Amino acid sequence: MKTFCVTGGAGFIGSNLVASLVEQGHRVRVVDDLSTGYKENLSALAGSIDFHPIDICETEPLREIFSGVDVVFHEAAIPSVQKSILNPQRSNHANIDGTLSVLVAARDVKVRRVVLAMSSSVYGENPTLPKNESMPPRPISPYGVMKMVGEWYAQLFTRLYGLETLALRYFNVFGPHQDPTSEYSGVLSKFITAMLEGRPPVIFGDGEQSRDFTFVDNVVSANLLAAEATRGIGEVMNIGTGRRFSLKEVVRLLNRIVGTSIQPRYDPPRLGDIQHSLADIGRAREWLGYTPQVDFETGLQRTVEWFRRCRSQVKTV
Ligand code: UD1
Repeated sequence: MKTFCVTGGAGFIGSNLVASLVEQGHRVRVVDDLSTGYKENLSALAGSIDFHPIDICETEPLREIFSGVDVVFHEAAIPSVQKSILNPQRSNHANIDGTLSVLVAARDVKVRRVVLAMSSSVYGENPTLPKNESMPPRPISPYGVMKMVGEWYAQLFTRLYGLETLALRYFNVFGPHQDPTSEYSGVLSKFITAMLEGRPPVIFGDGEQSRDFTFVDNVVSANLLAAEATRGIGEVMNIGTGRRFSLKEVVRLLNRIVGTSIQPRYDPPRLGDIQHSLADIGRAREWLGYTPQVDFETGLQRTVEWFRRCRSQVKTV
């Protein structure tokens, strides 16, 4: 049994990771100020975790929480390209100051390793596909810049202070616990909830844009592997699936899964949007032994089931 800490543990990806760590019998501390996460995401685990409602920018309490922790999984962020365009300073505070605070606290109390949630958005407008880690980052949104800086800080902390870090570049993660309620929520959570309610999903642009949509269980397994890996320390790694789907294809698949024949609505493209994204996952395969266990269609089915269950629970309350 080990002691882990998950920042952003009440959020979408963090809460899935916490559940998996608890299931494996570990002690888990969760840090989350509930600014974008929800305590309900952890309700099934309430007696099994230590919950700390702390802002990650508060380094002093973090030091205390990190004391005796083996690995910190840093998932806390304002995880939105669009929000970073609207309010770059607020996002910068959470995503850069917050990451630096986590690294400093971990260094100070001699945490062995920090695994960081980073993002495919660092690749930005580089049109080459698939994206591999030797390409120079060219972010086109403040969010991409922030995630790039987070990676660089992580690498520096390994070099300067010997803190082990592994930065995982997530590619468009989706699955249970993703919050569909904001205008800026991940596209799949919005499409699924719309279609379950019989509403047309809204496509920004022509719908030909494509993403390497990655089911959250794959990301959780990458984190568990990164906690123990002996290679890739002080490095960045793509975590995706190596396949991409256009938004038009997504709507077609969802119609089949949900049992509808809803036509999407089209709105103008979004500022800061990129056209295509696809991960080369060779590095994570080699260094972590990572393979995506859940393919896109299966992940979509599971996510639709989860949103269906949530809706039926809300109705019966
Ligand atoms: C980007 C990052 C991703 C990061 C995420 C955090 C890339 C390739 N990906 O995701 O790694 O985790 O930010 O926010 O940079 N869309 C619609 N209708 C909607 C909502 C979105 O058509 O209702 C479109 C968007 O315009 C975009 C695509 O769907 O073309 C995906 O959007 P979204 O889910 O917001 O993620 P990204 O911005 O690609």
